[in-house]
Amino acid sequence: MSTPVIIDGKATAATIKQEIAQEVERIVAQGGKRPHLAAVLVGHDGGSETYVKNKVLACETCGFQSSLIRYEDDVTEAELLACVDRLNADPSVDGFIVQLPLPPHIDEQKIIERISPLKDVDGFTPINVGRMSIGLPCFIPATPKGIIELLRRYHIETSGKRCVVLGRSNIVGKPMAMLMMQKQYGDATVTVCHSHSLTLKEECRQADIIIAAIGRPGFLTADMVKPGAVVIDVGTTRVPDATRPKGFRLSGDVDFEHVAPLCSAITPVPGGVGPMTICMLMLNTLQAAQRG
Ligand code: GUN
Repeated sequence: MSTPVIIDGKATAATIKQEIAQEVERIVAQGGKRPHLAAVLVGHDGGSETYVKNKVLACETCGFQSSLIRYEDDVTEAELLACVDRLNADPSVDGFIVQLPLPPHIDEQKIIERISPLKDVDGFTPINVGRMSIGLPCFIPATPKGIIELLRRYHIETSGKRCVVLGRSNIVGKPMAMLMMQKQYGDATVTVCHSHSLTLKEECRQADIIIAAIGRPGFLTADMVKPGAVVIDVGTTRVPDATRPKGFRLSGDVDFEHVAPLCSAITPVPGGVGPMTICMLMLNTLQAAQRG
């Protein structure tokens, strides 16, 4: 087996952010306004804090304006809904996100459904989900969009191929399967497997492309992968590790050490899908600003 192509999401994301920054400077030079992304962060979950911090940093790199709106864990649903209403009505804000998960006393779906579809740069509102599912212009969720972009930039053929998506979340699994199925994106034959799939291993073994978004470290093992397959790892579980400065490391859903030698191409964790996700949020915000 030849060595696999290691798909470098970090470098690809850096290139795309430079492309976005150039476009922003062009817009500003013509008298246009800088795109403005707002992020709502509730509480102090370590993962959410890091994601939002990185989103704000990416705004700086791209030349966007950014706003961070913070609430403590005890914020009421009514207060959050009022915040969403304000952002919907604020003409200076092109797009915004409410970082998930939210505390259990808040109905996440109710908050999402309050976001204007025109500012829903996460692509989580039912209008955007529905539009995506029938191939209409919309905001596409950042992680699946980033994976499609990586496959495209690495010239990985997907048309007609067997693709297995592991996981059925609203944020990754479902939209990923939808995009991989659609003629204008993946054009692949798609199977979605999840924690209750009886034939999960067999399905994976037949796949040309496996997209693992199941949230279990090292779940995809070498015996589940066909030689020559392309493996995309969406997992980012924090695993305690006393040797690391922060006391944890990020672990993907793929047993990289044993799976990589079998693959034609594979994404690492970190440095694979993760950086692309934030970069696609920036692209969605640029799209929102250009529409507005
Ligand atoms: N939590 C984990 N991923 C995401 C994301 O892409 N957007 C939001 N809003 N919350 C998340």
